[in-house]
Amino acid sequence: QQPCDIYAAGGTPCVAAHSTTRALYGGYGGPLYQVRRSSDNATRDIGVLAAGGTADAAAQDSFCTGTTCLISVIYDQSGRNNRLTQAPPGDFAGPAPGGYDNLANATQAPIMVGGRKAYGVYVAPGTGYRNNNTNGVARGDQPEGMYAVFDGTHYNGGCCFDYGNAETNSRNNGNGTMEAIYFGNSKAWGYGAGNGPWIMADLENGLFSGVNQKYNAGDPSISHRFLTAIVKGEPNHWAIRGGNAQSGGLSTFYDGVRPNVAGYNPMKKEGAIILGIGGDNSIGARGTFYEGVMTSGYPTAATENAVQANIVAAGYATVPGPALTPGTAVSLRATTACCTDRYIRHYADKAVTSVITSASSATDKNDATWIVRSGLASGSCVSFESKNYPGQYLRHYNYQLYRQPNDGGSQFAADATFCAQAGKNGQGVSLASYNYPSRYLRHYADTVYIASNGGSNTFDSAGLWNDDVSWLVSPPWA
Ligand code: AHR
Ligand code: AHR
Repeated sequence: QQPCDIYAAGGTPCVAAHSTTRALYGGYGGPLYQVRRSSDNATRDIGVLAAGGTADAAAQDSFCTGTTCLISVIYDQSGRNNRLTQAPPGDFAGPAPGGYDNLANATQAPIMVGGRKAYGVYVAPGTGYRNNNTNGVARGDQPEGMYAVFDGTHYNGGCCFDYGNAETNSRNNGNGTMEAIYFGNSKAWGYGAGNGPWIMADLENGLFSGVNQKYNAGDPSISHRFLTAIVKGEPNHWAIRGGNAQSGGLSTFYDGVRPNVAGYNPMKKEGAIILGIGGDNSIGARGTFYEGVMTSGYPTAATENAVQANIVAAGYATVPGPALTPGTAVSLRATTACCTDRYIRHYADKAVTSVITSASSATDKNDATWIVRSGLASGSCVSFESKNYPGQYLRHYNYQLYRQPNDGGSQFAADATFCAQAGKNGQGVSLASYNYPSRYLRHYADTVYIASNGGSNTFDSAGLWNDDVSWLVSPPWA
């Protein structure tokens, strides 16, 4: 019993079912998505390892060896052919030829599901998918439900990281012409408690966190690494629900009448499907999508709770990073939402963060690769030797980080030694300076420092400190 079997049993069948990670029906054995590689523009469908199972990521890896792959199609498992493809221009044009949006890089969001590697859909600003000619999706004021699993740590305040029902001409057709799940920390329209991010409903000309146009205290900030997000709507009634996709159940953040703003009752849904963009093809948002569905009919809470149990049982997890074992080569990836595509690298001898992808140059990849060494000042800590400048290490000087040759002195050894502990934001590691133990390796304005939390230097700023000092120990780029 996979999510769409559960919705069907509840009388609210899926009319669209999208996932790059797993089958959403127990009997589904078809393709999940299609990738296109840049070397020769050839495409390959990526399916499941077995009917009802997880994605065959190895097929993608072998097809994409030595080149860049983009996700060109996200198939619809419901049998209605409501697949998602590169979004066309609307009120706003995308950055790709013809005003289309970009396609997602197929390797940018690796995860584990059920102990198997899989890839999510990594939406950087400018990326978008759409289907303006669907079958069976709610129109007008018809009832529907939606859920999606997102990366709750990857978001921004741009408009609008959405999944769900939108306008069929990619334009803003007025209040109530869309009904989609939104995730991010935009306060341009509505918002909830805390600083975000929030799950909201994008109903066009408004991201709604509840009955009020702006603030609704019942919608909490929520940022589980794997996040289940739900929006559903029927005549003069709608709800927002959410939870941790790795454990526990769902909470209800709003359940009531349509917003107290003109134009949203009755709704005027048009039935297109969007992913990663606003209804009018606004392309300012970022986020990551793993799976999601749209139903016909308004699902019961009990049905959704059973779907949540299935998602938890599927076993979403992060890819186990290589440990900081002396002798291993690693790359150190930032975890701050702005910067999850950035790695610590040296550039003209200074340590900075740069966006590194499989398409980066060999120089960039080497500059972003470090060999873990037993700490020069202490064997219970570590040092980082440059991959392409052997004998040179990451060291601080006047609290800023550089790549410099080991001069054999005790000052250098201390400045080049870092002691690992669990990441301050719950991800990866934080690396305390050996000789300034309250200072941690931190990126600030793309430069790397040892920073204290709220100290006197600009780079000690308390804002985002926990995130800026947490690093994912990642496979080496070189
Ligand atoms: O409702 C918020 C956004 O407003 C929609 O996604 C977009 O179509 C419009 O710009
Ligand atoms: O980075 C702080 C200190 O600045 C280092 O320990 C020392 O090398 C320099 O004086």
